[in-house]
Amino acid sequence: MQIAIINGPNLNLLGKRETGIYGSESFEQYFKHLQQQFPAVNFTYFQSNVEGELVNYLHEVGFSYDGVLLNAGAYTHTSIAIRDAIAGIKTPVMEIHISNVYAREEFRHTSLIAPKCIGCICGLGLKGYQLGVEYFGMNDL
Ligand code: DQA
Repeated sequence: MQIAIINGPNLNLLGKRETGIYGSESFEQYFKHLQQQFPAVNFTYFQSNVEGELVNYLHEVGFSYDGVLLNAGAYTHTSIAIRDAIAGIKTPVMEIHISNVYAREEFRHTSLIAPKCIGCICGLGLKGYQLGVEYFGMNDL
């Protein structure tokens, strides 16, 4: 099973950024645990702060991979281009948020990508990525 994890803007700062909200573990550290936890899964990890690069990567993986876990960061709330990319590919995309966006500012309550995703895991910290992998495992293995 091939799963792509895609993180959007500012998520390269995980572990340093607003640690009260996002925790003190870097994504690189967490990613190692995830790979150990699911040795049968072939993971790729891509992070970018640039909207078009996220679109390009969705196109790259979106016709051959079994699943995408996408934390689009702030682009979740603004990006029609990322929404259209999700709609245009074949691979199912799970929306991930580390924080509970519904318990935060009102502008975070709207997701432009949600209607094109198969589901959303939100507010469960980094564990949300693990739960997303389990979902794809249940359905595609
Ligand atoms: C986030 C929530 C977004 O509102 C925010 O812009 C992020 C991270 C999360 O994982 O909780 O950058 O996607």
